[in-house]
Amino acid sequence: MTAFDTLKTSLVAAPRTWLVTGVAGFIGSNLVEALLQLDQRVVGLDNFATGHQKNLAQVQASVGPERWARFNFINGDICDLDTCRQACAGVDHVLHQAALGSVPRSLEDPLATPRATPRSSASFMPHRVRPTAIIPACPRSRTSSAIRCRRMPSPSW
Ligand SMILES: NC(=O)c1ccc[n+]([C@@H]2O[C@H](COP(=O)([O-])OP(=O)(O)OC[C@H]3O[C@@H](n4cnc5c(N)ncnc54)[C@H](O)[C@@H]3O)[C@@H](O)[C@H]2O)c1
Repeated sequence: MTAFDTLKTSLVAAPRTWLVTGVAGFIGSNLVEALLQLDQRVVGLDNFATGHQKNLAQVQASVGPERWARFNFINGDICDLDTCRQACAGVDHVLHQAALGSVPRSLEDPLATPRATPRSSASFMPHRVRPTAIIPACPRSRTSSAIRCRRMPSPSW
């Protein structure tokens, strides 16, 4: 049994509550699918800046109604502190994937990308918003090995 198998078994035995930011994006939607398949409770936060409702619809179809009922979606902006407070309430772990990616976009609009990344990441830290772990976006290879992807990354990466 691999360490990943052991982890999955322990999560199923003692489900936790996870916040996945950027949940309508490529990595976020694959993470929420993997977590729901393990009977976890998931709060998802996204403002659909680059994400898609169809990604969440695919997850819903994949996991079925019972597991989908453990998912609570918040349509909001990670740059808004009150939204982050609401999203973090009762959460054990944060998987922070919300971001405006794309090098070309960051060159075309240099102010937009930092707005959706470092400042918003900092929103999770203060003001008694204290989940046990904040796990930021991972390098591609590590993420791909940890989850079973439903589709390829968008060509902008
Ligand atoms: N996909 C890859 O191959 C890859 C590789 C390396 C690193 N990453 C990193 O992983 C993270 C996620 O990548 P992805 O491929 O899933 O990107 P994505 O664009 O598919 O998903 C990002 C999600 O964040 C949401 N978002 C953006 N700004 C937001 C805001 N202000 N509030 C709420 N939601 C917001 C978007 O709507 C989108 O759903 C990024 O940080 C990216 O840099 C991705």
